[in-house]
Amino acid sequence: MGLRTLSIVLFAGVLNLASATVVPTIALNDGNKIPILALGTYSGKGDKMRQTVNWAVEAGYRHIDTASLYQNEADIGKGIAEVINKGLVKREDLFITTKLWNDKHRRDQVVPALKESLSRLGLQYVDLYLIHSPESENADGTPANIDYLDTWKGMEEAKQLGLAKSIGVSNFDTEQVKRIVKNSQTPPAVNQIEVHAANTREQLVSDMQNLGIAVMAYSPLGFLVNRGQASVPPPQLDDPTLTKIAQKYGKSTTQVVLRYLIDRGMIPIPKSTNQDRLQQNIDLFNFSLTPEEVATINKFNVNKSVFE
Ligand SMILES: NC(=O)c1ccc[n+]([C@@H]2O[C@H](COP(=O)([O-])OP(=O)(O)OC[C@H]3O[C@@H](n4cnc5c(N)ncnc54)[C@H](OP(=O)(O)O)[C@@H]3O)[C@@H](O)[C@H]2O)c1
Repeated sequence: MGLRTLSIVLFAGVLNLASATVVPTIALNDGNKIPILALGTYSGKGDKMRQTVNWAVEAGYRHIDTASLYQNEADIGKGIAEVINKGLVKREDLFITTKLWNDKHRRDQVVPALKESLSRLGLQYVDLYLIHSPESENADGTPANIDYLDTWKGMEEAKQLGLAKSIGVSNFDTEQVKRIVKNSQTPPAVNQIEVHAANTREQLVSDMQNLGIAVMAYSPLGFLVNRGQASVPPPQLDDPTLTKIAQKYGKSTTQVVLRYLIDRGMIPIPKSTNQDRLQQNIDLFNFSLTPEEVATINKFNVNKSVFE
């Protein structure tokens, strides 16, 4: 490679880095910082997932959300090793979230389950470990009736061992979260729940925020994307109300609904394994919605889950 070609390549590299979005962080109730946008990874697997981690980090994503359930921790781990080896980021620049599945809720199962996730991810620690759901199961999928307060004691052990910097829950309601807060040394730092324009969860979100617990919003694109359901509520991708707001800011309707969650103080987790859509989904930090626009989007609420 000649000197001229080399300088063009280097210059392009600098341009590429310069164009990466910087995602803001907020402080969790344990003092750790969390980026306010995460890459969703459910259903992304294999080499595509490894490649997606590379594209995501190049685009500016620093927070990756996975779970033992997703069976992609090893693929994500390969991607993480690559971006670190390439010098794009250091481990401490990344924020990795994973989750404890329902069949490992016994207190003495929590730390071993996390160690297995860490081994698949190729990491010494995760930034955030979540109880995936309050429901416990036996290995055969039958209900196990383990009190999540016992599971939480295992989560606290994981934090004390430094295997998880922060610990939290997912799919918990206000009563369940309050029960942990009342009976434990460490309150959850995060509750990860489904929130989008057709399922706004206003009471639950405000309860969490009043308790100082950060909300990660899953399935943030709601019914703007095809969920394989025959009949779905608005808003969809071409919704006129969203289109009007999108045109005002020169954005897409998907960017408007992601920004809506940020403007409600949440951390959306859009999933994509497509390089263009990954870039669109992080391009959210040069505009914000007015309180009136947030209120307008809240009016779409019909309490409809994408998993019904
Ligand atoms: N804690 C829990 O119980 C729980 C439950 C569900 C999900 N989650 C987490 O939350 C993440 C997100 O939820 P989700 O995967 O259900 O839904 P989502 O992120 O709202 O939607 C993902 C779908 O939208 C498509 N998409 C992404 N960006 C798009 C764009 N800009 N325009 C059009 N289509 C777009 C994706 O396809 P392409 O990949 O082809 O772009 C994919 O089919 C999950 O991946 C997972 O990490 C957690």
